[in-house]
Amino acid sequence: MIHNLFSRYLTEWNRTGNKRKMPWKGVKDPYKIWLSEIILQQTRVDQGLKYYENFIHNFPTVHDLAQADEKKVFKLWEGLGYYSRCKNLIITARKISEEHNGRFPDSYEAILQLKGIGPYTAAAIASFAFNLPHAVIDGNVFRVLARVFGIREPIDTTVGKKIITRLAEQLLDKQAPGTYNQAIMDFGATVCMPANPNCRQCPFQNHCIAYKEDLVTLLPVKTKKTAVRARYFYFFLPVYRATVPVRERLGKDIWQHLYEFPLIEKTTQTPPGEIMQEAVRKGWIKKDTKTAISPVYTQKLSHQLIQSVFISYQLREKSGCFEGYGWEKTRALKTLPFPRTITQHLDNF
Ligand code: ADE
Repeated sequence: MIHNLFSRYLTEWNRTGNKRKMPWKGVKDPYKIWLSEIILQQTRVDQGLKYYENFIHNFPTVHDLAQADEKKVFKLWEGLGYYSRCKNLIITARKISEEHNGRFPDSYEAILQLKGIGPYTAAAIASFAFNLPHAVIDGNVFRVLARVFGIREPIDTTVGKKIITRLAEQLLDKQAPGTYNQAIMDFGATVCMPANPNCRQCPFQNHCIAYKEDLVTLLPVKTKKTAVRARYFYFFLPVYRATVPVRERLGKDIWQHLYEFPLIEKTTQTPPGEIMQEAVRKGWIKKDTKTAISPVYTQKLSHQLIQSVFISYQLREKSGCFEGYGWEKTRALKTLPFPRTITQHLDNF
């Protein structure tokens, strides 16, 4: 298909067939665009929506976010995952507030310099807020272009990425880059979806190579399978006078800056007796302590499957073996940011 036809069909679909409403659509405030795009990285629109609204409600401007208590920001981010996004959000808000007087830089290159902003997000902000001609390129765009143009090169190789990136840049409507970019994202999410795409209502039906050659389910091609790593978490909740030990996760691992209880981690499922023995050796629990063991909570991350169990019990005396932990009142736990697995358990606790 010739290139300007692609953009024309897409624009026409956007005008007549695109039913997607989102609160940041058409907005020109780069702060709001940035925030929505960071939330939507790795997050579905329906899930991200309430986070976006909550953030804007609490921090209407970049200055509000820059001045906020970090713990409060993480609390609002709770459940969204990939917490380095939240950390970078704070860093970038402070930079813009303090060094740029609250004004977002208005060139692609300067936006790209900001922490947590890669080529996709920089193109989104540059085009939506400043109408600059930069094409957004993400999984949606890769899929749409691989199908419509019948690109059989695997999209997770350098060659495949180069082909699609060049094509995406050529296809971009330079007159209306913001509208075009938003349209291709919406199109990928509502018509040309990964599974069961809606080909019958597709404006490219007569042109799409994948459709004509019956390759829709085969494109885009990927070479690598992502391995999923299983992790087994055994959390200990010793309750002493309605307080429990908690600490912030600071290592370079999942859930950075979220809080957790004392934890024994295993790479395989381990019998309770063995876990208890280890906890006894650490001095976390006595051999004859009565415990309540929770059901298994499962949380799937993109490359990890986390299975967690919570072991609760009363402590008769506060032991010194929980070094590095703060004792937090159980009824105040709700104010701390926790991984979703932990909040789920606390809701039942
Ligand atoms: N995903 C990420 N950004 C998006 C946007 N602006 N519109 C739709 N889906 C998105």
